[in-house]
Amino acid sequence: MSTINVQLDRQGRLLHFLTVEGLSRRHLTEILDTAESLHGVAERRVKKLPTLHGKTVVNLFFEASTRTRTTFELAAKRLSADVLTLNIATSSAVKGESLLDTLRNIEAMQCDMFVVRHEQSGAAEFIARHVKPHIAVLNAGDGRHAHPTQAMLDVFTIRRHKPDFPNLRVAIVGDILHSRVARSLIHALNILGAGEIRVIAPRTLLPAQVETLGVHVFHDMQRGLRDVDVVVMLRLQKERMEGALLPTEQEFFQRYGLTEERLALAKPDAIVMHPGPINRGVEIDSRVADGPRAVILEQVTNGIAVRMAIMSITLGHHARPVGEDG
Ligand code: CP
Repeated sequence: MSTINVQLDRQGRLLHFLTVEGLSRRHLTEILDTAESLHGVAERRVKKLPTLHGKTVVNLFFEASTRTRTTFELAAKRLSADVLTLNIATSSAVKGESLLDTLRNIEAMQCDMFVVRHEQSGAAEFIARHVKPHIAVLNAGDGRHAHPTQAMLDVFTIRRHKPDFPNLRVAIVGDILHSRVARSLIHALNILGAGEIRVIAPRTLLPAQVETLGVHVFHDMQRGLRDVDVVVMLRLQKERMEGALLPTEQEFFQRYGLTEERLALAKPDAIVMHPGPINRGVEIDSRVADGPRAVILEQVTNGIAVRMAIMSITLGHHARPVGEDG
């Protein structure tokens, strides 16, 4: 059974959100439109909706996170869910408890949603295959495989600034090889019909046959950044690197770092994005990261509405357990 079949029900509705790959434009547009309708909740005096009142959301983060964990937690709270964040470093996982046993124990506490980040590709799908039918599983990043909610907040941010997707030119720069963000974003942009997707990286930081993902490959910034509407910078993911794929960080910055001079090659109204965490002076200069073209913190804000949308949509498609009040 493929991942696609795990995350959709027989009617093709989202039960889990594990990967963007294989979803339709209709699925992605539903998420983006729902997020747009939820975006204003943050401006209200009481920043809450009753959508997930009585539901329990469990954050299971087996890998470090600042943005994803906290915005998932805020999103769940703004939908009135009860939220539990398991601190893996002080959980019984460190005493050797298996992922499945941890899962079974949390499941026994009658929760309704797992938000999972794990260093192993496929971990969220594994959990989705083993949970009870009423539980939704959201992938908050698995190994180098996928980071689908990041991709959705990225395309949401792009759509707010540059809604003309057929004429959109996006450049994704840096460590594409180890990046689940790049993989999910490329799928999302292709599904939404983006005009051109470029990847700019040294050969050692590109996956084999990356062109098959539907991207144009560039090895230098001068050609790759020319006339793009969006520049997405990625950090070097050293925690996933095996062996020497790079000379030094300084040399990487000299060839691939985003400076004001290089950004001038893009369109005059081009926006600069980064999923975070940023490494100043390695992939991006501070003047760009803090400059007027950067929408990096806006991405973080948008992540709350996008995650609220995905939580509402997936839980809305789950059958309620027997005995629950209507
Ligand atoms: N973009 C992102 O996934 O950031 P965190 O690792 O801080 O969650």
